[in-house]
Amino acid sequence: MNYRITTFEEYETAYKQSVDNPEGFWEAIADNFTWQSRWNTVLEWNFTEPSIKWFDGGKLNITENCLDRHLATRGNKIALVWEPNDPKELSIRYTYRELYENVCRMANVLKNMGVKKGNRICIYMPMIPELTFAVLACARIGAVHSVVFAGFSAASIADRINDSLCEYVLTSDALSRGNKQIPVKAVVDEALETCPSVKKTLVVNRLNWPVHMAEGRDYWYHDEVQAVSGVCDAEVMDAEDMLFILYTSGSTGKPKGVVHTCGGYMVYAGYSFANVFQYNESDVFWCTADIGWVTGHTYIVYGPLLNGATTVMFEGIPTYPDAGRFWQVIDKHSVNIFYTAPTAIRSLMAAGVDHVLAYSLHSIKALGSVGEPINEEAWQWYNIHVGKERAPVIDTWWQTETGGVMISALAGITPLKPSFAGLPLPGIQPILVDANGEEIKENGVEGYLCIKFPWPSMIRTTYGDHERCRVNYFSTYKNLYFTGDGARRDEDGHYRIIGRVDDVINVSGHRFGTAEIENAINQNKKVVESAVVGFPHDIKGQGIYAFVILAEGEHDPKIIEAEITETVVEHIGRIAKPDKIQIVPGLPKTRSGKIMRRILRKVAEGDVSNLGDTTTLLDPAVVDAIVEGML
Ligand code: WT7
Repeated sequence: MNYRITTFEEYETAYKQSVDNPEGFWEAIADNFTWQSRWNTVLEWNFTEPSIKWFDGGKLNITENCLDRHLATRGNKIALVWEPNDPKELSIRYTYRELYENVCRMANVLKNMGVKKGNRICIYMPMIPELTFAVLACARIGAVHSVVFAGFSAASIADRINDSLCEYVLTSDALSRGNKQIPVKAVVDEALETCPSVKKTLVVNRLNWPVHMAEGRDYWYHDEVQAVSGVCDAEVMDAEDMLFILYTSGSTGKPKGVVHTCGGYMVYAGYSFANVFQYNESDVFWCTADIGWVTGHTYIVYGPLLNGATTVMFEGIPTYPDAGRFWQVIDKHSVNIFYTAPTAIRSLMAAGVDHVLAYSLHSIKALGSVGEPINEEAWQWYNIHVGKERAPVIDTWWQTETGGVMISALAGITPLKPSFAGLPLPGIQPILVDANGEEIKENGVEGYLCIKFPWPSMIRTTYGDHERCRVNYFSTYKNLYFTGDGARRDEDGHYRIIGRVDDVINVSGHRFGTAEIENAINQNKKVVESAVVGFPHDIKGQGIYAFVILAEGEHDPKIIEAEITETVVEHIGRIAKPDKIQIVPGLPKTRSGKIMRRILRKVAEGDVSNLGDTTTLLDPAVVDAIVEGML
């Protein structure tokens, strides 16, 4: 690949070129990929509608770039290493040729089931190799994948399926996570009761669990795959055809389907992977995310495979069978580049350093962090105990909407500062603005983080509701993409991400809208109203604090708390369980009925010394009652 930057000087030159002549810059990068026909224009855009087109007129299939083009030179190279939940079970290695064949087989199965280009396919599967095959098989035949993290509830799956009218669901019987086995197909069955658009499902057998198979609707993968060939032509896609939808939470109640398209996403996934992680041909790369999140899409599947890399996929959790599992897997597969989340680092830190000292970790060359701000203590622990102070620790800032890493040190190339994401990648033009949307040009400042020029893997729309995309990202500040994050830029131009400035909480690197959790809580019949805020949490980064007003009557607080938790689990999933639920007589509202979250956040933080002005509240006495009952 010709897009790999290898020195700081090259970084500076590339950055300057990317600003002076963005189209020339991206065209040169796009030329490293296999296109069935070349684009007519590199970029057409405006941030008002918004309308963004990269490489328009270009034809390609991303899987030809991930698989076919490597067969001649890397056919026998390991593409995918799968490590099971249980260390006693064998891991599986797939060469590029084997991965290619598996993807083609699954693509042929999908075709036989009637899947057509443009159909939306919901994939609700655990971290098994078939999940990777499924994602790539969809891309192969031009179907749009919408992966839903296997921890979401039936109601969440149904919402996502119905929002984009998915016609097929790919799933498994059950999943294995730590010492638990959890049903998967049964959850899909429940979801499908309210999903009329779904015609068929394909089920992978992971655990030999008994499942209900609806005649004419549900098919076993192991049956269907018998009769198909290991070759499948790649569908010709336009650069701006949809590649995938991925749902993410925003400040309003309903998660939105972020849409990424084929050409631009491919270019940025490939380019950012090679540069951020400084991948070399024989390196083994491991990203611990789930493919249910964008990190897994871009840095387990597409980014590594576009570069002919060896990528590790892990079914389990960091603490099973014990808190040394990550380090055991690193030694087992000689992982060179390791990419995980601050919440995992903090929980392993809390389990004690002995777990990590039990392994050599000599293969480690670079370490990455993603999903939320990494505090200095966790950064240092990661650096000292995992990287042995000889591996760069990079903090990569990006979002589902950005498709790939935007601000980060390039491992070993650009300077590192603990708790700073650092400098933008060449091609990315971040700016800070003040509350009026005026750009703050000087350094040593804080502001709202925006991006002022398009990049190839940026969000194109929110599925089925373009207006929502415009309002959410392009209307707050004119002619800018607004990230929803606040940031600081230091004297050297390095960015430090402070956190969300909207009503989004980041729990263990997962995004939830406060309104989304409130909606779930309010489904409980005993709840009249609720307000949710985030609070600092030692392991998760942020925890969920819910203030709840109950209906008249006698309530046992313990029972009602459990019931409310259960309601949230049912409506969203275990990952959104509130950490604290406080029953309150009322909420601090202004005369116009707006909840003053500032006060609730203070209470949740446990800092009530200065609650600010409460005189504009409808009923200031409510605040005293809330403070009194503070958890
Ligand atoms: C939000 C995006 C794409 C990564 C997985 C999360 C926060 C992400 C960092 C970081 C500080 C970060 C931001 C962002 N975030 N990475 N390195 N430092 N904050 O993707 O679910 O779309 O969430 O995660 O607040 O807006 P996501």
